[in-house]
Amino acid sequence: MSGVQMKPVEKIAFISGANRGIGKAIAIALLENGAKKVYAGARDVRSLHNLMSHYKDRLIPLELDVTHDNAIAQALNSARDTNILINNAGVLQAGGFFSKDTMDTFKTQLDVNVLGLMKLSNAFVDILKKNRPAAIINISSVAGLGNMPMIGTYSATKSTVHSITQGMRAELANEAVLVMGVYPGPIDTDMAKGVDIEKDSPENVAKNIVQALAEGKEDVFPDIMSKQVGKDYMQNPKGIERTFGQYVT
Ligand SMILES: NC(=O)c1ccc[n+]([C@@H]2O[C@H](COP(=O)([O-])OP(=O)(O)OC[C@H]3O[C@@H](n4cnc5c(N)ncnc54)[C@H](OP(=O)(O)O)[C@@H]3O)[C@@H](O)[C@H]2O)c1
Repeated sequence: MSGVQMKPVEKIAFISGANRGIGKAIAIALLENGAKKVYAGARDVRSLHNLMSHYKDRLIPLELDVTHDNAIAQALNSARDTNILINNAGVLQAGGFFSKDTMDTFKTQLDVNVLGLMKLSNAFVDILKKNRPAAIINISSVAGLGNMPMIGTYSATKSTVHSITQGMRAELANEAVLVMGVYPGPIDTDMAKGVDIEKDSPENVAKNIVQALAEGKEDVFPDIMSKQVGKDYMQNPKGIERTFGQYVT
């Protein structure tokens, strides 16, 4: 526990990749739980149409590609009252370190999953400190706790997000900014389409994130599979490496 507990009531959140999947579910969960406003980042703001018509002026659309420095600067200028930053935008490209095109796919994923998250966090950190109590929520993955070879490069980006989350938490330890790492298992979104495995819902993930915010939790395992992985990881990280290492294809 961090000591910073943030019930969503009257809070103002900024979410990257808020137009679908887990990001959209988090936007809805925050607004349904009393958030004053959600800044919804999307590469194409037209994809926010349904959210905008439902939540009216509590849902502020912002055009945001996290790989574009200018878009980040503009989003920051429009959202200076933010006190919860949610780094959710992500991409997954299958393949390991010896796969065809691995340098290209690794770079694409690093640009979004790692550098995009860092750039957005760096842009917002001063206003988060000013608007504290505040929170940064980084969406990693269970694949960030042990490498899954079929998505090996993606796993490496999510492992980096895990490490970044630890580092940010230490740097902000005296600033009343909760830094939360979220480690979902397979969730039923476009990203996991075609993966034949039991999946939890984005709505359940979002519900558990909102609850974790209110409790000030730092490490969040928000779905059926990740709850088990979280327990196993604490006891036996080498066991997770061996288990995940079987997911080669
Ligand atoms: N689904 C899973 O099983 C699972 C498990 C663990 C972790 N996660 C993580 O959860 C997060 C959300 O994933 P999801 O499952 O909701 O996937 P999703 O349905 O594929 O949504 C991905 C979101 O990221 C956005 N995005 C991609 N590239 C972007 C960029 N350059 N700039 C800004 N936004 C960008 C997408 O926008 P567009 O609509 O414009 O493409 C979309 O809103 C990701 O970080 C993912 O790695 C997912």
